[in-house]
Amino acid sequence: MHTDTTGSWTPAALSADLPAGTVIPAQIPAGFIALWRSHSGRMSASADRCPHRGMRLSHGFVRGEALSCIYHGWSYAPTGNCLRIPAHPGLVPPETIRVVTHVVEEAGGVIWVADGQPEAGPPRLEGLVPLRSLTALAGIAAIEAAAGAKTNPQGMVEIAIGNGAICLLLSPQGEDRTLIHVLLKGMSEPAARMAALRSTETLRRAAEDRQKKEFAQ
Ligand code: FES
Repeated sequence: MHTDTTGSWTPAALSADLPAGTVIPAQIPAGFIALWRSHSGRMSASADRCPHRGMRLSHGFVRGEALSCIYHGWSYAPTGNCLRIPAHPGLVPPETIRVVTHVVEEAGGVIWVADGQPEAGPPRLEGLVPLRSLTALAGIAAIEAAAGAKTNPQGMVEIAIGNGAICLLLSPQGEDRTLIHVLLKGMSEPAARMAALRSTETLRRAAEDRQKKEFAQ
């Protein structure tokens, strides 16, 4: 989702899916990342590749304010520099050992990761309440067709339901796979939230069916 010309923001995950002390895999246009939150609550987005032997850092673990690789235990700071190499406990790791990091911000219950250095902050999705994220094996076009609506300038497909709306914040994960963050507008009662969940599941199946048919043609 592009918001300016010098950088772009991707809605990588919902805040609720990244508690303190955890790491999860995510994808942005620049590639795969390890999205992690330290024990004090600081968020970081690191390239999902350990500089040592290439293990995915999203398979690692958070210890205090550092992310540790599951393979040989090298630890990295939120800024990307290597802090510790367990096989050489007396060594101060050289500055050259570092993992690429990305700017990350949290807004409205969504975790946004930037490509490059954005001039503006991530979009503010006022009045929307995050519900859940799910992955559809379908591209944006198939999701729009299933929803009967186009993506708006904020990167969302909005579907009216009852007195409110389901807003699908879309994050492409390649040609035929999309991460969908479901946000609700004007729907707070448990029954309405259940109805929104059911509608979203139905829409996902419809989008995936369309994608399969398109692939088969
Ligand atoms: S591959 Fe990560 S510490 Fe060795």
